[in-house]
Amino acid sequence: MEESDKKLDQEMDKEKGEKPEESQAKLPEDKQEEQEEQDKKEKTEELRNLPLPRTHWEDVVFSFPQPRIKFGKGVVKNVPKAIFRLLDPMLMHIKKAEIERPKILIIIGNESVKKMGALDKILKSCEQNSIETGIFSCGKGEATVTMVNEAVEMALEEKVHFIVGIGGGSVMDVAKATAGIVINGGLAEDYHEGKPFELPGLPFIAIPTTAGTGTEITSNAVLIDRTRGYKKSIRGSHLMSKYILLDPELTLNCPPDITASSGADALVQAIESYVSKKSHPLADIYALEAIFLIAPNLRMVFEHGDDYAARSEMLLGSFFAGIAFSNVGLGLVHGLAHPIGYKYDIPHGKVCGALLPCVIEYNLEYRADKYARIGRIFSKLDLFTKYEAEASDEKNTRRLASMIKEMFSQIQIPLKLRDLGVLKEDFGWIIENTKGGSVNSNPRTPDPESLRELLEKAW
Ligand SMILES: [Fe+2]
Repeated sequence: MEESDKKLDQEMDKEKGEKPEESQAKLPEDKQEEQEEQDKKEKTEELRNLPLPRTHWEDVVFSFPQPRIKFGKGVVKNVPKAIFRLLDPMLMHIKKAEIERPKILIIIGNESVKKMGALDKILKSCEQNSIETGIFSCGKGEATVTMVNEAVEMALEEKVHFIVGIGGGSVMDVAKATAGIVINGGLAEDYHEGKPFELPGLPFIAIPTTAGTGTEITSNAVLIDRTRGYKKSIRGSHLMSKYILLDPELTLNCPPDITASSGADALVQAIESYVSKKSHPLADIYALEAIFLIAPNLRMVFEHGDDYAARSEMLLGSFFAGIAFSNVGLGLVHGLAHPIGYKYDIPHGKVCGALLPCVIEYNLEYRADKYARIGRIFSKLDLFTKYEAEASDEKNTRRLASMIKEMFSQIQIPLKLRDLGVLKEDFGWIIENTKGGSVNSNPRTPDPESLRELLEKAW
């Protein structure tokens, strides 16, 4: 047992020891009633304080932008409807003659979206509605500036009016960035360097086929630039999609490995936004609901990918996590995952999964109240470790870290950075490159020394 664990145990024992022993003497009847009344009051007060953290929301200011959303089985066929709905307000500014026949660029990843029949459904429904279509395929792998620049070139050549992205997180990022750059000009690299998106981009319709990144709802795109040697976001409120079609049927064919890593990412995002320094009450509702939806379904979709109910809840959960973190930011797991993911080309969800338990322990003293609340949700699952109502928040937070390790090993997410190929000699470089928005919203402000300790633990 680690020294800090022993300390926690001792503190807990002390807490227990200090409790006055129950008196065995019988009270007079009127005193007994008084006592019962007092107990009832205390119980009510205790219950009143249970569900929500007292987080002093009075100091918080927030806004909450939302695009149009359609969720349900088969909604992918609604692409034409979405286009015509988006076209209406556009016609107020553009002469109708210019868009007699709307033209869309559909951005896809690899061939799997064709195999699952989703692309055919979109193409067919567009043809029936006199909508012209072009297809840009990004290929496999994470989103890069090169993919975006090529897609922008095609969109400009074909003079398209809409961008539709159908695929996983990387496809969403390429499609989102393309929609923004077609109107604002330049290359993807310019936006990495800080060029702002001053004008609204082409209307972008997002159709995710994995339950994971939540990027369908965010206003940033994470892009790799191999020439300059980094992976970072380009962002702007104009990048937000205009319409989101969430069709759980599209996620049914997602292979177990991708299901596990994207699902782990969704869970990490929900947890990081819930404990974020910038958290606010509305985002908390989405973050908690995301955890409620993802935690019991992650193993289910990994082992039984054809379970529609579980796939639906995962898709909703990852979407809710996306709403939460797009409003309040993420945390240190993501701050570290970006440089590590870039350096070793490891799937994002796997890096996040390996880091989460250690980051929870790293943040222990800063948001133990909220972590313990998450632990309560996890204790309903079929896991060996359990939340204990009588234990301190600190102790339950440690239990949460153990429960997450158990859950990730069930879905074959590696629990150690060394198993992902991370080298100790690169820790210095990783620490140097752990910066940005996610680090800033982490409950504990990191310093190089404590980050090294964290990496050692996670290694
Ligand atoms: Fe993520």
